[in-house]
Amino acid sequence: MMTESNTVSPIQVGLDDGYAFTKVALPDGRLIAIPSRARVGMSGVTWIDNGRQRIFEYETEGAMYAVGAVDGAPTHFEGYPTSGLNRVIVQHALQEAGLSGRSIHAVSGLPVSAFYKKNGEQRRDTIERKRLSLKQAVQPKSERLPAAIAFHEVIPEALAAWYDYVIVTQANDVILDEARLSVPIAIVDIGGRTTDYVVVKDQGVVHASSGSLQGGMLDVKQQVANGIQERFDLENVGEQLVSSAVERGVVRLHGKDHDVAALVDAAKRELVERLYAESRRQLGLGVELDRIVFVGGGTVALAEHIANWFPNQAIAEHPAFANARGMLKYLQYVCEESDVA
Ligand SMILES: Nc1ncnc2c1ncn2[C@@H]1O[C@H](COP(=O)(O)OP(=O)(O)OP(=O)(O)O)[C@@H](O)[C@H]1O
Ligand SMILES: [Mg+2]
Repeated sequence: MMTESNTVSPIQVGLDDGYAFTKVALPDGRLIAIPSRARVGMSGVTWIDNGRQRIFEYETEGAMYAVGAVDGAPTHFEGYPTSGLNRVIVQHALQEAGLSGRSIHAVSGLPVSAFYKKNGEQRRDTIERKRLSLKQAVQPKSERLPAAIAFHEVIPEALAAWYDYVIVTQANDVILDEARLSVPIAIVDIGGRTTDYVVVKDQGVVHASSGSLQGGMLDVKQQVANGIQERFDLENVGEQLVSSAVERGVVRLHGKDHDVAALVDAAKRELVERLYAESRRQLGLGVELDRIVFVGGGTVALAEHIANWFPNQAIAEHPAFANARGMLKYLQYVCEESDVA
């Protein structure tokens, strides 16, 4: 039987399924992000007619999950990239991108140190597990058809941002920017759980200067959560409440706003200090690097703190989406036709 999903041609997506946000880049230029937020079990909420649904349920490997406006289970555990939790969040992002019922060709990523051993060898088992995990079926618990990932390749996350930097689209043309390709470039990707470093020289990864630091904006969130708990003598604080406190510097409790900007600032400074030390360790003063490109959502959140680290630094356009854009470009222009077929 021919269903709609196999009469329509597959759609290519760049899929940066991070610990904090899941970002999708589409060939028509659209960029979509959803928080990587879900939990096991049904939502326990019944939607009144016409009310906008904010929690969505999915099933994978026989388990039910709720995704959307839920207080999410923490994603920062070791097995997240190959978990059911990851799979339902990705499915939800694809649904939000309007890809219900479509067949998907995707490139996603793993943190640099999860992808490579320090000696430069690829961790083939980990990569293959991630590749297969996202190809497993996820069923929305509604009339919506699933988006099915038919082809899936995995690359190192920060390296994706390098592809984004060297493959340039101009008007209707796509070019490989020879000037950018021929010089050593460092990418610093400040994420939620990890901060990734990649140095690319002569089109190869310099492993001595590449790797991941366990640290990112989720540490800021954790510290702010602890601070709020302590200051207001609370046993628990919801994850959505903390997210909004980090973004706005204000927390709303019992219907009243409280200023927590100083708490947020202190947590950011602590992270920035660690990142600065790690950047110096990995990249030195950057004298032999042509350019140091900052990407990732943390680059936006910490912009004022990282402004003057290197004289030759730059912040990518919409930095939180640099990896997703690079993953799409990798799929469109680097993957062999025969791989995708
Ligand atoms: N536009 C923005 N403005 C301010 N802060 C942002 C913005 N986008 C993201 N962030 C912050 O940056 C953090 C990291 O976002 P990012 O999407 O890079 O993480 P991630 O890729 O999911 O994490 P990881 O790479 O560790 O898996 C988020 O937790 C959020 O606090
Ligand atoms: Mg990331």
